[in-house]
Formats: sequence, structure tokens, C-alpha cells
Amino acid sequence: MIYLTHFGLGKAPFSLTADPEFFIDFIPHKEALEVITTALSLGEAILKITGEVGTGKTLLCNKLQSELSDQYLLCTIDNPYLSAEELRSTLALFLGINKSELGDQFLLTNMIKERLLVLFEEGKKVLVLVDEAQALPDSALEALRLFSNLEAGENKLLQVVLFGQPELDVRLSESQLRQLRQRITFSYELRALSESEIGHYIQKRLAQAGYRGATLFNHAACKKISQASRGIPRLINVLCHKALMISYGRQDYTITPKLIKEAVDDTEDAYPIPNLNMWWGVLFLFILVNALLIIWWKG
Ligand SMILES: Nc1ncnc2c1ncn2[C@@H]1O[C@H](COP(=O)(O)OP(=O)(O)OP(=O)(O)O)[C@@H](O)[C@H]1O
Ligand SMILES: [Mg+2]
Repeated sequence: MIYLTHFGLGKAPFSLTADPEFFIDFIPHKEALEVITTALSLGEAILKITGEVGTGKTLLCNKLQSELSDQYLLCTIDNPYLSAEELRSTLALFLGINKSELGDQFLLTNMIKERLLVLFEEGKKVLVLVDEAQALPDSALEALRLFSNLEAGENKLLQVVLFGQPELDVRLSESQLRQLRQRITFSYELRALSESEIGHYIQKRLAQAGYRGATLFNHAACKKISQASRGIPRLINVLCHKALMISYGRQDYTITPKLIKEAVDDTEDAYPIPNLNMWWGVLFLFILVNALLIIWWKG
């Protein structure tokens, strides 16, 4: 990236990839991880994490992969357009079933069950992480539900964590998925970051990327980013990246609120920042309306 050397950075601080190395344990993300690990250890079959676009679901999913890989056999499904058949085949391949045996779906379901039982007897726990679950077809969600029903005594043979945008909740409230909804007793909804968390987020990501200089994004700049991003981490990344680009283009070393405004104007998804002229306009209108009211009342 062109501005790395200019700002003394080792790597891109605001990349859009969900890299667990950049994970910061804010309250929502920490709580989500706690809910997942607790519910999994209690033997819950299906858990659900929801959050608006860009709030960190894929990052959490990746973080879980790196944290749980020594306790679980982890199967990650991040292609949400899988049919039920494709989902079964993906799971079967992951469980070590031979590719040549994927043909007959009925036999395949039985083979998956047998394989899960063998793994259970070997003391291996299987966890399926589904990213973008809001887009998975009903039939694939139903297939997952059926596998998560499988038990050996008190123990589940397979556990599932669903990560999805709020549309997932809408879909689960539909009657054809009500059985699945009833099985989800543990869930968590990720919220956006607060203004103070945003300041911390920016500083921390810069430090993780190797920045050691003076404060780049001062309080006023962070406030503007907070207004324009409404605390959505992906939007914060986009705005910070653009601000660094503009600052670099001008061979500058500071990020002013004015520069953030330029980054916001260049970002379709950002919420426009009300400027000072607008507030003067509002004040003028307020005085005008009051003056008219007084004239009308006296007259
Ligand atoms: N707690 C956090 N610490 C560090 N970075 C974060 C955190 N939460 C989110 N991010 C960053 O925000 C960006 C968006 O996160 P992510 O891709 O996980 O969002 P998402 O919820 O999966 O979005 P979508 O609904 O579009 O799939 C990523 O660059 C990610 O690294
Ligand atoms: Mg995602």
C-alpha cells in the first residue's frame, strides 16, 4: 500500500479482511465469544450470532477457528448458496468420507451419521461454523438442524454456530423454520461501537500495524468518524483508509476533521456529517418561525 512507508506502518492498518490478528476484544465481541464457548461446553446444538453488515461476524468466525481448532474438528461453511445436497457433500468430505461415495443422498446421510458416531467414540467433537447463514436456503438449514439432532446418550454428535445478518432472524421467524428457531436457546446480537470504543479501535489497529508516531486521528477526527460510520467497524476502516490516502497525497502527517469530511463525501455508505452552515440554517429557521409566531400572536 502506497502510504505505509510515509506513516511508518509495517502493514495495512485498515484492511477490510477479517484477520483475527487484528481482533480487539470489545465488549460485544468478547461477550459473543463467551456466549459461544459457554453454550458449546454446555452441549448446545445450535447457536446464533447476528449483527448488522460490517459489525465483525466473519472476524468472530475466523477467531473461533483459530481458538477452537485444538478442541474441535472444525468445518467452516462460508458459501451461503449451498443446496441441502451440496451442504451434505461438503460436510461428508470434511468428515473424511470418500469423494466417490457422494452420489446417493440417502446413503450419504447415513454415512455422515455413522462417521459422526465413530468420531464421537474417538473423543473428537465436531463443530460446524456457518458464515452468512442468512442466505443459506431453507433446505440446507433444515439439513443442518437434522444433523444437530443426532445424539449419543446425552451428547450431541455435531454442534453448529450460525453467523448472520439481521435477515437471519426474519427468516427464522417464518413458519417453515420455526423448528430450527426453537432449537436455538443461546444467541447474541453484535452491536455497533460507541464513540469511545471507536477512538480505541483506530489507535489499536494503527499500533497493530506498527505505527509508533504521534496521535494521527485526534479526538475531533474520531468524533467525525463516529458520526459518519455510526460505529460500524467496516465503515470505520474505509474512512480511515481514505483519510490516510488523502493525507499521504498531500504529503501531510495529520488527519484533521476536514479531511475526514472529504473521506465521508467520497464514501457512499457513510452517513453525511452535518456541517456548520447547516446548523446556522437550522438556527435561522428556528428564529424565523418564532418571529412569525410572535407577529401572528400579537396581531
Ligand atoms: N473487534 C474487532 N476488532 C478488530 N477489527 C474488527 C472488529 N470487529 C470488526 N472488525 C473489522 O471490521 C471489518 C468488518 O468485519 P467483518 O467482515 O467480520 O464483518 P461482518 O459482520 O462479517 O460483515 P458482513 O455482514 O458484511 O459479512 C473487518 O475488517 C474486521 O477486521
Ligand atoms: Mg461477513
